[in-house]
Amino acid sequence: MSQPRTPDHWSRKAKAEGFPARSVYKLEEIERRFHVLPRGGGRVVDLGCCPGSWSAWVRQQGGPRLRLVGVDWQPVPNYPGDFVERSVLEVEPEALLLPLGGPADCVLSDMAPFTTGNRFTDHCVQIELAQRAIALARAILRPGGSFVTKLFEGQEVNAYVADAKQSFGEVKRVKPDATRDESVELFLVCKAFRPAPG
Ligand SMILES: C[S@@+](CC[C@H](N)C(=O)[O-])C[C@H]1O[C@@H](n2cnc3c(N)ncnc32)[C@H](O)[C@@H]1O
Repeated sequence: MSQPRTPDHWSRKAKAEGFPARSVYKLEEIERRFHVLPRGGGRVVDLGCCPGSWSAWVRQQGGPRLRLVGVDWQPVPNYPGDFVERSVLEVEPEALLLPLGGPADCVLSDMAPFTTGNRFTDHCVQIELAQRAIALARAILRPGGSFVTKLFEGQEVNAYVADAKQSFGEVKRVKPDATRDESVELFLVCKAFRPAPG
């Protein structure tokens, strides 16, 4: 049986700074290195946003002019934007474009399934979420926009990256410092969105 985790540096820092999860420091590092978020407002979508750390941090960065839409099938009390309580697999682009008020500058996805401990199964379920995330990103991003998604290492990652390169001018794999050493997660940072012709 696995032992409960003791809070590490990142968890203690998140608690001290008022964020519900340590994951906030993964996005902070991604933004520091790659500048994926719009400046001074803009439109951002956060897929799989519960418990709300990424969204809270994005709100802090974007200020009052930011239009932020979060999606999760678990509720997020006091969400700092428009919240859609639904599976991302069932969300249509219009349900995001309407509250955004126009095409998104950035789509974020930190979605992860309930893991089983079977690495292959978890990879397959997670890649399905990441495929839905990129499909939504392609449907709602403005030209030049950014997309960040979590992936679990596994056999489908190379094909996913190759597919992302069809739509984005820059695609980079990142393992932020706040990702646990033993974790199979990585993030794909995609910039300079090129919509398909027609
Ligand atoms: C690692 S957590 C996200 C943490 C978040 N970025 C934060 O900083 O607070 C992964 C989230 O993905 C959500 N998720 C998993 N599958 C989903 C689905 N099909 N639709 C919507 N959300 C999903 C889970 O409910 C969970 O809240």
